[in-house]
Amino acid sequence: MAKVKSAFFCQNCGAQSPKWIGKCPSCGEWNTYVEEVIQAETKSTNSFSAAAEKPTLISEVENNPAPRIPMPGKELSRVLGGGLVPGSLTLFGGEPGIGKSTLLLQIALAAKNLRVLYISGEESQEQLNMRARRIGIKNQECYVLTETLIQNIFQQAEAMKPQLLVIDSIQTLYTSHIDSSPGSISQVRQCTADLMRYAKTTNVPVFIIGHITKDGSIAGPKVLEHMVDTVLQFEGDTHHLYRLLRTTKNRFGSTNELGIYEMTGAGLREVSNPSEVLITAREEPVSGVAIAAVTEGARPLLIETQALVSSAVYGTPQRSSTGYDLRRLSMMLAVLEKRCGFRLGAKDVFLNIAGGIKVEDPATDLAIVTAILSSSEEIPVSPKFCFAAEIGLSGEIRPVNRIDQRIAEAEKMGFEQIFISRYNKKAIPEKTTIKVVTVGKMEEFFSKVFG
Ligand code: TYD
Ligand code: MG
Repeated sequence: MAKVKSAFFCQNCGAQSPKWIGKCPSCGEWNTYVEEVIQAETKSTNSFSAAAEKPTLISEVENNPAPRIPMPGKELSRVLGGGLVPGSLTLFGGEPGIGKSTLLLQIALAAKNLRVLYISGEESQEQLNMRARRIGIKNQECYVLTETLIQNIFQQAEAMKPQLLVIDSIQTLYTSHIDSSPGSISQVRQCTADLMRYAKTTNVPVFIIGHITKDGSIAGPKVLEHMVDTVLQFEGDTHHLYRLLRTTKNRFGSTNELGIYEMTGAGLREVSNPSEVLITAREEPVSGVAIAAVTEGARPLLIETQALVSSAVYGTPQRSSTGYDLRRLSMMLAVLEKRCGFRLGAKDVFLNIAGGIKVEDPATDLAIVTAILSSSEEIPVSPKFCFAAEIGLSGEIRPVNRIDQRIAEAEKMGFEQIFISRYNKKAIPEKTTIKVVTVGKMEEFFSKVFG
């Protein structure tokens, strides 16, 4: 009898080791190694023999790409780079409960004239039907199947010849060729490779859902990212309504795209004008609020930053931040203290980005600082002002990219003034109805904003 071969795999990053180790040398996680049976490798000593295709000059390769399949909804088409490429494998990653199944079922139900096979390993057909009725069924050719054995899935797909295959989720699938349990690295890897081969040979596009867990106990989609064509990340705060669909890898388009959705009682709704919903309409100006003109990928967005500064009740002041990097907040506070002479050391500072959105764009800095000072000094900022600049350690106001797009979005949203770095002056469009105020130093900025 052939000896069963096994190895240890990191369940977080997929690294392999012949023996168990506590800390993964590749990703640094602890206690993630699990023993898994691996497939016996076929003994082929000469891999040079299979010369199937001859090399071709790149300029002479035929260029007649199949037309892209239009997807329902502008947001999805955009993140995919303008429609779905036939034979592509797309991974939808996201934390449990964020709405991956809802989004994909919704796509399957809205894709008219497309025969869709939706495989679920997590929900029964009744549950899927219940969800589908909440969302509304438009596609008359949407089939569902509850199955987890990949060989059976291919058998059904062979018979039905779908034009789009959806797998919910990759962690529930298993192949009979490997002994380890569903969700383990070797199963996930093998099933993805099989799906890739299916997509490439039949030219049917495949969507797979992959869960990410924070503790890394299930094979995360990280392992799969290099295998698939496109990786879309579905993110957001489950307590909030808004969800962002981000492209993190795309072999057929740009990775700078972003789709925005809102979770409603009847599925996900596209948000085509996000700036409108992310800013609270207020009658009177309030202190501690400033609007930042940020860009998410290639998309300009106006978001509301809120700060609350109060005297610390206990000895150590508290600093808390939602949606913005806490270390960056500490840096901003240090700059205000050291370079601008504001005494914030003994104050509690709470920061929040409205809508449950996380921002990483450094152009948020100026709005954050404005919100903090506005709250600390109890001076409201005009709701017609918005801000887009980074702040350096010496208190200088630094330029940011895509300033013309930010200005255009602020103008579109009816703002009257936008504050930017004076080093961005060259990029200002010639004709603007909005007043563009350029500033270089913090002191100058404060006198212009707070008068
Ligand atoms: P789900 O798509 O199952 O998340 P995932 O597949 O990523 O784990 O759905 C997540 C949440 O969405 C669930 O808690 C209920 C909510 N939801 C709505 O608010 N409205 C709806 O129409 C649907 C279908 C779900
Ligand atoms: Mg699900």
